[in-house]
Amino acid sequence: MVEVSASFLNVEKENSIQTIYNLEASGIDYFHIDVMDGKFVKNNTVDRMREYTEYMKQIANTKIEVHLMVEEVESYVKSYLDIGVNSITFHIESLKNEMEILKMISYIKKHDTQVGLSINPKTKIEQIYPYLPYIHKVLVMSVEPGAGGQKFLPEARERIQTLNKAIYENGFEIDIEVDGGINAQTALEVIEAGANILVAGSYIVTSENYKEAIKNLRG
Ligand code: DX5
Ligand code: ZN
Repeated sequence: MVEVSASFLNVEKENSIQTIYNLEASGIDYFHIDVMDGKFVKNNTVDRMREYTEYMKQIANTKIEVHLMVEEVESYVKSYLDIGVNSITFHIESLKNEMEILKMISYIKKHDTQVGLSINPKTKIEQIYPYLPYIHKVLVMSVEPGAGGQKFLPEARERIQTLNKAIYENGFEIDIEVDGGINAQTALEVIEAGANILVAGSYIVTSENYKEAIKNLRG
């Protein structure tokens, strides 16, 4: 089954509560929180994303997944574990070595929270393989992280296929999530390649009818 996760990156503060209500009513599977620290990427969304997460916790039941685009992974992991979210995803490019990545994975899991690892378009997809036995999902970036509304990078398709094959051959049960430039057309392409969770920001938020947009993405 294909699931859809709505990115709040391009949701304005004044519309945030209404958007949370409307998306939940439209049957979205996850709320996607894009935390950017102004260092790992230029943008800084730290305060706004924390605020949105608190609203979500107060007024909605939809699962919350956090996508950390930050340099200091540990402090953000701690702060989102404190709020309580369903999953936390960090970038393999954020930490220095395999040991640090494995430690962070086990720290998050110890707190009964699902773990995702994200990988940038320019990082070799094979670099994620050592962690596959320990994580719940891989978040394949299909744009350079940092902003919403960018164009889907077509090479993501092949990366997803390669990853999907590696997961299948090893008998792992891991979600493949794709993030960046997802619309009705690119959704079909990545689903065909093996993705089962789609993150979409601008495609959903700018549509007149959320329910219809989500249905189009599910294919
Ligand atoms: C990019 C973020 C994404 C992105 C999604 O760095 O991780 O979640 O904003 O937005 P769209 O769907 O507009 O590409
Ligand atoms: Zn994201």
